[in-house]
Amino acid sequence: MTDSITITDNRSGESIEIPIMNGGVSASEWSKLLPGVWFYDPGFMSTAACESAITYLDGEAGILRYRGYPIEQLAENSTYLEVAYLLLHGELPTIEQYAIWKNEITNHTFIHENVRKRFLEGFHYDAHPMGMLVSAVAALSTFYLDAKEIFDPGSRNKQIIRLIAKMPTLAAAAHRFSVGMPFVYPDNSLDFADNFLSMLWKVAEPRFEANPVLAHALDVLFILHADHEQNCSTTAMRVVGSSHSDPYSATAAAAAALYGPRHGGANEAVIRMLTDIGTIDNVPDFIATVKSGHGQRLQGFGHRVYKSYDPRAKIVKQIAYEVFEVTGKNPLLDIALKLEEIALSDEYFTSRHLYPNVDFYSGLIYQAMGFPMEMFTVLFSIPRTVGWLAHWQEMLDQDSKIARPRQLYIGSEPRDYTPIGGR
Ligand code: ACO
Repeated sequence: MTDSITITDNRSGESIEIPIMNGGVSASEWSKLLPGVWFYDPGFMSTAACESAITYLDGEAGILRYRGYPIEQLAENSTYLEVAYLLLHGELPTIEQYAIWKNEITNHTFIHENVRKRFLEGFHYDAHPMGMLVSAVAALSTFYLDAKEIFDPGSRNKQIIRLIAKMPTLAAAAHRFSVGMPFVYPDNSLDFADNFLSMLWKVAEPRFEANPVLAHALDVLFILHADHEQNCSTTAMRVVGSSHSDPYSATAAAAAALYGPRHGGANEAVIRMLTDIGTIDNVPDFIATVKSGHGQRLQGFGHRVYKSYDPRAKIVKQIAYEVFEVTGKNPLLDIALKLEEIALSDEYFTSRHLYPNVDFYSGLIYQAMGFPMEMFTVLFSIPRTVGWLAHWQEMLDQDSKIARPRQLYIGSEPRDYTPIGGR
């Protein structure tokens, strides 16, 4: 058996044989036979837009690996900062490399005073923190003019460190502003998650001590959300980055893509759904409404790629119980468990391969920890920044083309302009 396909243009009888490489066939080879005939693939359902060595995902088997390491092992044994290094550099750091890396991130957590005072504080009092974050990240490009030097290794590395380090500071600043609390400066003596919690929750105590169970839970959630190959926001990062814009502008575009309820906004939608359902007794009726297909979806269920249980959802569910030991059980948990139980034994969901995704339980944890719903997508943006940057860097190193798909035109034939009075 040859690992190739042969296609024939029935108009001319010409054929071309194309090798199957890494599970794909080259569209440019294909186009040699079919110039001017485009591959119609809305939503990129069947298109591989790049080669990538960062994340492996098998949606049928429910497997997720970063640089070859199973997500379960990383969640169990690693830290977010170590995983960030792994995603960017391809290897886990040595003790010395990790010490330098951690020190670099820790020393770039502060934001320019103008970002906070003039920019963030200029928002309307009820601005959504995710909207604030998207804008603030874009604004950073105006503070670091060297960011345009994307092919200078030193400059590129500096912007990567700045972005990873400043995301929690911007996120916390957006939260403090939205609840009318004064900004808390980073405490560089704290670990990544502890420092973030300090910037969020510190009131008048000289030093904020986060509950270690909650800080650890947040760090694991950061690991689970760090990358997920060519998802919508990462694709936005690659597309915008392919025009060689600076990494802050490209990251802002990626964060904007994450903002939508079909993507990073899903955990907020889950909590709204569970709150609307109200009690366990209402679960069967709710499931019936979803199945009737009148636009209502079971939020936190289903995934473009996973057609079995999302491996991240299993870990999140386990963490939820650890967090509830500290915070008390989120009363919505029982409704979520009942929904899952019914859905996983219902033919409508099983036949469509709809299983809980990472967002089904994460919102319950965030809510129990005291985060307002508006912060959920912001919490997702912090770790996903490293995934976006790893893909951006990989794309630049591959000397990739500018992203510019084709279209199948279905509009009017040529026609003449009619002056307004004659229409
Ligand atoms: N509840 C009920 N039915 C669903 C759901 C759901 N959550 N998801 C998909 N379906 C059904 C669709 O109605 C469709 O049924 P049909 O074949 O009878 O028309 C079938 O399953 C296939 O659905 P598509 O929309 O074609 O699947 P797609 O891969 O395009 O969508 C998506 C994936 C957007 C994630 C979808 O499952 C969904 O809307 N889920 C709820 C929102 C959510 O949880 N998003 C978070 C994703 S994870 C993340 O981004 C971090």
